[in-house]
Amino acid sequence: MNDLLSPKSGTNQPSEVECLGMTFQSEDDRREHFLALLAEKLKDSAFRAQEGFPKGTDEAILAMSDPPYYTACPNPWLAEFVTHYGRPYDPAEKYAREPMAIDVSEGKTDPIYKAHSYHTKVPHLAIVPSILHYTEPGDVVLDGFSGSGMTGVAAQWCGSAPAVYRQKLEMEWKKAGMSPPKWGARRAVLNDLSPAATFISANYNLPFDVDAFAKAGKQLLRDVEREIGWMYETLHSDGKTKGRIEFTVWSEIFTCPECAGEVNFIDEALDEDNRTRDSFPCPHCGANLNKDRLDRVMETRIDPATNTPWQKVKFKPSFITYSIGAKKYQKQLDQHDLDVLAKVERLSLPSHMPTVRFPIEQMYHGSRIAPKGFSNVHHFFLPRAAQSMSLLWEKAQNWPDHRTRGILLFMVEQSIWGFSVLNRYSPSHFSQVNRALNGVYYVASQHAECSPWYNLTGKLDRLEKAFRGYRTGVLISTEK
Ligand SMILES: C[S@@+](CC[C@H](N)C(=O)[O-])C[C@H]1O[C@@H](n2cnc3c(N)ncnc32)[C@H](O)[C@@H]1O
Repeated sequence: MNDLLSPKSGTNQPSEVECLGMTFQSEDDRREHFLALLAEKLKDSAFRAQEGFPKGTDEAILAMSDPPYYTACPNPWLAEFVTHYGRPYDPAEKYAREPMAIDVSEGKTDPIYKAHSYHTKVPHLAIVPSILHYTEPGDVVLDGFSGSGMTGVAAQWCGSAPAVYRQKLEMEWKKAGMSPPKWGARRAVLNDLSPAATFISANYNLPFDVDAFAKAGKQLLRDVEREIGWMYETLHSDGKTKGRIEFTVWSEIFTCPECAGEVNFIDEALDEDNRTRDSFPCPHCGANLNKDRLDRVMETRIDPATNTPWQKVKFKPSFITYSIGAKKYQKQLDQHDLDVLAKVERLSLPSHMPTVRFPIEQMYHGSRIAPKGFSNVHHFFLPRAAQSMSLLWEKAQNWPDHRTRGILLFMVEQSIWGFSVLNRYSPSHFSQVNRALNGVYYVASQHAECSPWYNLTGKLDRLEKAFRGYRTGVLISTEK
């Protein structure tokens, strides 16, 4: 029998699974059983009336949830989980720990940390020492403001830390005069009021079949290529070999203050080594220009969501980086490339692209994006990126197996920024993936519009490696 939260659970293998003292034939049976109970609970108006209850339909909450481990609403199984895995407080049992005063600063380069961004996210390796010091293996750790769930990762990771990490930490503790840690997984109860946070947290913490995910991810990218690969095809300089676009660099268009001629910022400001020059001559009148001297150009297009005029800053494609096999090339756009872009723009806005307006007035950076014409979510996506994003989401959302679907959505969701116009073209970096400026809504004058495969192939490999091995036991709730 699989233990409920053993690393093998979530794989839909035919062996029985145990969950909160009950036995099920499979993970699907377990989920079905608890989903029916949750559906019933959602009809209870007192349950829904709790302050901070997420705004969402029953269907949306049930689709996100994987009860009893994760509910996208207050988790009705919290008490049962704690009773099942915790130990009642016993005043006779002495608990004493010296305050821990060691350096726990950690870099932010660990593959687990980088799997999905979240504001104010703490690396799990910065939490592990505290959990080791203050708790025993098997204890239940509570994080009531858990964000992306790194406390849960840390609690579980105490049982799977690699030997090299253990030795290093034990040596450091010895030097600091501390007794050696007790290795072994802890369980965690994680809570956040944000369903987006608990969605990320659930995928960071709940067991899933990593091999099935790796296979599904590759299949998803192949399916997307079959349907919209034509949008990313370009012709090589021989005029016949087809290359696949990795990214297209778009430039904001300005006008020269001297002659009013149009200035494509990238075309004029980048030197042969793709470095931005501080100043450059106007291509029309030769006047000496720099970014501060240029005048912004607004253009009017038809908003694809409302079919009404839409004023926005003007961008034009500047060049393409593409690959043929393992070789990479760069080229200016030719007529075929421009025709493809025009054809994509004539398609209707894809069904999965949100069109909701940003709460501009309440946003610290609202005053930066609104005057440039970016007031609704879909404004952040060029037509081709909108098609890609929507198709990726649709394919992930329709994946039949629940846990694989969750982790596919997690992978696609973390790439949303990278598909938007917030993704800056950064000539000094090798990769143009996820180059949005952290913590702000900033649309730069140079944008790298990345293809789905350029964006996600490497990520898929990294997630597959990062996510093996530590998931043994958490409960996640969404409440205030
Ligand atoms: C500092 S972040 C935690 C980040 C977390 N350490 C991580 O690694 O991702 C604080 C979290 O508290 C949540 N929060 C704020 N007020 C809350 C409340 N009243 N109840 C539950 N969560 C709350 C926020 O949504 C946010 O995710």
